[in-house]
Amino acid sequence: MNMRLAILFASLTISLSAQLAEGPGMKETDKNCKTCHEIERSISLRQDLNGWNNTIAKMVGFGMRSAESDLAIVADYLAKHYPADALTPLNVNTATAVELESRLTMKRSQAAAFLAHREKVGKIKTFADLKKAPGIDPEKVESKKTQIIF
Ligand code: HEC
Repeated sequence: MNMRLAILFASLTISLSAQLAEGPGMKETDKNCKTCHEIERSISLRQDLNGWNNTIAKMVGFGMRSAESDLAIVADYLAKHYPADALTPLNVNTATAVELESRLTMKRSQAAAFLAHREKVGKIKTFADLKKAPGIDPEKVESKKTQIIF
């Protein structure tokens, strides 16, 4: 009996872990994101909407055929249920060029301009100063506010 219960629980856990989080967009995500690889792989990342849009664009590049109207729904669903919050905060005073490029989606030239500025003025202490800094896109910084520290 105990053994059978244990097996039952084990199989329950397995089937549950293979499922997507419940919510609007789940159906579209399930339909579009499991044809080439396991659905688990599709939700293996934790990122913001911008990041998920990039991933989706990459999948389109790999040949994903989805209705245009599905793409935004899937992106919103993924950003809501598999968000970037788990990331460690980004300290803009110690971040390297690569970190700035990937976390704040800056171009290489923008990251370089920001680093040169940081070198010149020293520690940046407020969001207002950060937003004015060369290479920084104020809107992007605003959208990533919760991930940034000084
Ligand atoms: C047309 C086939 C196809 C479809 C459909 C597809 N993918 Fe992929 N996916 C790939 C390929 C190819 C890779 C890369 C495999 C490798 O590099 O080993 C990949 C890899 C990934 C990875 C691993 C990280 C990365 O960036 O390489 C993630 C996350 C991912 N896909 C998410 C998704 C999501 C989300 C969807 C649905 C919106 C999706 N995939 C639908 C083909 C597809």
